[in-house]
Amino acid sequence: MTQAPAKPAARPLLEVNDLKKHFPIRSGFLSGISGYVYAVDGVSFSINRGETLSLVGESGCGKSTVGRTVLRLIEPTAGQVLLDGERIDDLPARRLRPLRRRMQVVFQDPFSSLNPRLKVRDILAEPITNFGLATSKGELDDRLADLMDKVRLPRDAMNRFPHEFSGGQRQRIGIARALAPGSDLIICDEAVSALDVSVKAQIVNLLSDLQDELGVSLLFISHDLAIVEHITHRVAVMYLGKIVEIADKKTLFAAPKHPYTEALLSAVPVPDPTTKRNRIILKGDVPSPIRPPSGCRFHTRCPHAFDRCKVEEPTLKVVAPGQFAACHLHDPAVQPVARAA
Ligand SMILES: Nc1ncnc2c1ncn2[C@@H]1O[C@H](COP(=O)(O)OP(=O)(O)OP(=O)(O)O)[C@@H](O)[C@H]1O
Ligand SMILES: [Mg+2]
Repeated sequence: MTQAPAKPAARPLLEVNDLKKHFPIRSGFLSGISGYVYAVDGVSFSINRGETLSLVGESGCGKSTVGRTVLRLIEPTAGQVLLDGERIDDLPARRLRPLRRRMQVVFQDPFSSLNPRLKVRDILAEPITNFGLATSKGELDDRLADLMDKVRLPRDAMNRFPHEFSGGQRQRIGIARALAPGSDLIICDEAVSALDVSVKAQIVNLLSDLQDELGVSLLFISHDLAIVEHITHRVAVMYLGKIVEIADKKTLFAAPKHPYTEALLSAVPVPDPTTKRNRIILKGDVPSPIRPPSGCRFHTRCPHAFDRCKVEEPTLKVVAPGQFAACHLHDPAVQPVARAA
């Protein structure tokens, strides 16, 4: 009996390999480059179809820069970005254009990202007509009505201007615009951060429902771990331009392996008041990304740091099934020492 050929593993929708974005610093208008902001410094991850990966970490760790570089709103310094197996980081603008249809973004502030002079109808029609996705007015109208239904807004709201809506409704319009060209990947950059708690939950639920319905992938950028826990499948934790831990949600929230993740999680309020969580207060501030610390970038604030951490940079290694952490504590050779510390 001949054996059926092994089924190839499904290709991720998005693959990011060793992505770097170093912003040059110029001290004066005519002066040369005096240094770099190492905003993103070797970040790798992938997102499957219909999957949500959240990117979390303190302000300035490089989350938005990752999102903007993936979208090619800014050019990467190094590394690869593949959409459906095709490299897009080095594509010329002409060849990138059709792929832009497949990757859209929802920003934190829908007010500034929606053109105030356009009615919702025109805001949503723009990407549809730009990409030639409707051949007649009837088809365009059907698409627009469908988008309003998808984001649970009344169809007649299409004839209003952005300022006539509440923050949550405007964010629904932002989501409708992101869905308009039939995208496969939506990057939500702090998309719910500016909203009231109850509205936040509604928008997060909407995103989850849309994902179930349409199979879109989400890169959910947020500093709010309580929201992330609600929406995500996997979490990548960033510190000073690097991913220090990446794991599926359950594993990461139940058993974080990087001391930085532990500290971040210790600050998340627990719904059950009888469960006590020991808050870990990190010493000092986040160092500057212009002069990141040697070795492990977290060593200056890590409660477990030992000599090796100051000189040798840890790489992401498997620490449990589906969980990767960049920390010397998980090197079997140093573990007994670390434990004793
Ligand atoms: N265009 C730019 N030129 C120079 N530095 C920049 C530029 N954009 C971002 N940076 C710097 O890069 C680092 C990462 O910024 P980024 O906006 O990606 O962080 P973030 O994690 O999204 O933060 P936040 O949570 O506040 O949104 C910061 O130090 C920031 O000041
Ligand atoms: Mg940001």
